Amino acid sequence: MKAWVYREYGGPEVVHLETVPTPAPKDDEIVVKVLATTVTAADWRARTLEMPKGFGLIGRLVFGLRRPRKTILGFEFAGEVAQVGRSVTRFCVDDAVFGSTGARMGCHAQFVVVGENEHIAIKPQGLSYEEAAALSFGGATALHFLGKASLQPGEHILIIGASGGVGSATVQLAKHLGAHVTGVTSGPNAEIVRAMGADEVIDYTREDPLHTPEGYDVIVDTVGDTPMSRCRHALRRGGRLLAVAAPLPTFAGAPFISMLGSRKVIVGVAPESRAVAERLAQLATEGVLRPFIDERYEFSQMREAHARVASRRKRGNVVVLVPHDDTP
Ligand SMILES: NC(=O)c1ccc[n+]([C@@H]2O[C@H](COP(=O)([O-])OP(=O)(O)OC[C@H]3O[C@@H](n4cnc5c(N)ncnc54)[C@H](OP(=O)(O)O)[C@@H]3O)[C@@H](O)[C@H]2O)c1
Repeated sequence: MKAWVYREYGGPEVVHLETVPTPAPKDDEIVVKVLATTVTAADWRARTLEMPKGFGLIGRLVFGLRRPRKTILGFEFAGEVAQVGRSVTRFCVDDAVFGSTGARMGCHAQFVVVGENEHIAIKPQGLSYEEAAALSFGGATALHFLGKASLQPGEHILIIGASGGVGSATVQLAKHLGAHVTGVTSGPNAEIVRAMGADEVIDYTREDPLHTPEGYDVIVDTVGDTPMSRCRHALRRGGRLLAVAAPLPTFAGAPFISMLGSRKVIVGVAPESRAVAERLAQLATEGVLRPFIDERYEFSQMREAHARVASRRKRGNVVVLVPHDDTP
């Protein structure tokens, strides 16, 4: 099969299109014929080792000390079941599915192997393969952090980075939970954030979103540039800061601040699982969550897709279409 392979850390030029062995399933695994995948902020981090401040060594331990341990990037997929292991009961050949492989990656390829009880579910009928491929990264993150915050109807939530992959999913889910949503983005992206359900949009190039006399119940920071102390001061009593892209000092300090003060700081890594994939499928089927696609790229344009994500200006999700005109 064809796959984009990287063997050193660096810019988009380190990924190369190669022919590699097509994976075979173990008894409890399935092989998915990938029709669409995404390039996410996680691919950018895994390719460049650019980590939130203080996480440099942890990044190397996760992805490979001197060079990448897993050589095929890609965390998300949508496609058709091509082959099932002997004990698989949840899926049949030709089922339309979507999901995520997490830290194992490998989705920038024509075929990927997934455990039948991992983060994989039947594709919602109302979503295209492109949209379904983009459901997991932002969706799972938004679900996890909003759940940790126990967001209540009527609460005021500020979402910094509302036009990004995580932000666009968070806006939709927060609105669904009945919150009053203010999204922060730059002017040209305001319409998208409004269309996703935000009640108000603040253009951070013109206005300081944290300069607010009323304060917010919840602040979601998906950008990670704002000092934690500034965010905390913009929270009401009982408020929660969801530091999605937290640097190490915020990560380390969060439990103490939450214990000692009247405002909580929530950090962590959003888990992915079968239950999360099924929940995302349900939310998409109900029309609550629809991934916003920034740009679509052909498989041959993988490096361009990486460059778009590396710009840190992408809107929603970057999708790559995977062709199957050759025999694996
Ligand atoms: N903790 C976890 O489990 C977890 C899970 C997933 C992701 N993450 C992290 O979350 C972060 C966000 O991921 P993502 O996929 O959402 O990134 P992304 O899609 O690449 O974010 C790009 C967006 O950020 C906006 N942006 C940039 N600077 C901004 C600012 N100062 N204020 C407001 N918006 C700004 C951009 O809008 P403009 O062009 O208008 O500026 C753009 O639309 C990454 O650091 C990722 O590693 C963490």
